This record gives sequence, structure tokens and C-alpha cells, in this order.
Amino acid sequence: MSFFKRNSLSAKKPSDLQAATKERERSVETKESAAEHGKCMLSRRNFLMYSGSAAATASVISINLFPGTAQAQTLPARVVTYPRKLVAKLSQLQANVPVDFNYPDDGRNTSCMVVKMGVQAGGGVGPQRDVVGYSYMCTHQGGPLNGSYLATDEHRTLGQCPFHLSLFDLRRHGIIVSGQAYESLPQVLLEIDGDDIYAVGILGLLFGRNENLAQG
Ligand code: FES
Repeated sequence: MSFFKRNSLSAKKPSDLQAATKERERSVETKESAAEHGKCMLSRRNFLMYSGSAAATASVISINLFPGTAQAQTLPARVVTYPRKLVAKLSQLQANVPVDFNYPDDGRNTSCMVVKMGVQAGGGVGPQRDVVGYSYMCTHQGGPLNGSYLATDEHRTLGQCPFHLSLFDLRRHGIIVSGQAYESLPQVLLEIDGDDIYAVGILGLLFGRNENLAQG
């Protein structure tokens, strides 16, 4: 390569060089992201949790963070799976009568309910998309919401919390309607198999736990 050609890059304007560098970084990032996305395409029952050490019962994969940048690093990540638990029979649910169960285990703060609300809801399952599951633990300070389910006209709520009066909207993924809480109520992800209703995961962190699934 001639001296002229070897130095042709340095002859470019600084703005051109910056643009070329950014384009190259974008290209690397896109390829890495696509690869990582493929690795992380998990079913809704699988969740990725960062971990410095591997849990005995969980499978471990490596993920690349900030690829193509100076902060790039590879970390071990733990893939954990929620249990698939039979919680109710569709044919036995009565309209607006919650059925209680514990999920994802029988440990503390796992009190949950499933209810057929008669109106379509976010995350609802069943023919009318009206069957939902939620934690009974208020996200503010863990007030028990058991027995507070209310159906009024088209509204479906859990609360008011006996501690500080928070109210959660069960048609809209448990968002707060009023009160002191500032996080939505954890929603139990449900699946239907024939007449069986299964709990298969949780959207949100259960009150009082560092993680929903105990480390294996
Ligand atoms: S514990 Fe429920 S609003 Fe405070």
C-alpha cells in the first residue's frame, strides 16, 4: 500500500472520521444485539436474572453488556423458571368471587387470588379475557388486600388497603388508582389449558421479597 493510500484516512475531515466511527460502532452493536436477542428469547415463564454466581438449579448463560463500547463486558446470567401451578378450574369460577392460592411457592408474601371479572382486562385469560390473577400484598407496606375485591359497574378493584387506603385497578394490570402505594400490584400471569387455569409467572416484584423466586 502506498504512503498516500495508507494515510488517506488521516487526510479525511475530523467530522468524516467521527461519522465513520459511529457507523462502525452502530454496526457492531446491531449485530451483537441481534445475537443476544436470539439468546434471550425466553418463554414467558423464563426470566433472566443477573447473578455473580450460578444458582445450583438454574441454567447459566453468558450475556454481553454494552457491546462495542469501552464498557463492554461479559457476565454470567441465571435463567430461572417459574413453576406452572394449577390454581383453579375455569368451570368452577363464579363471577366476581376470588379464589385464593399461594404462588410461586408457599413462602412469605405469596398470597394471591384468581378471579373471573366478567369484563375484559389486561392480561386476562379465558374466552372473555376476563380471568386475572393478582398478589394480595399491597406494594406500599404489605397491607393485606384479602377480601377487598370490589366490582362496581365496569370497574374491578382490589383495596382499599387497610393500612393507607391504596386502591388498585385490576382491569389495567394492577395500576394504582389512589392511595400511598407507588407501584402496581404484581399480576400473576395465567395460562388456560382446557378447563385448567395455571399460574406461570408474576409481573412485578412481590412485596417484601428481594426476588420472586427463591434461589435454588
Ligand atoms: S400498606 Fe397499603 S397503602 Fe400502605
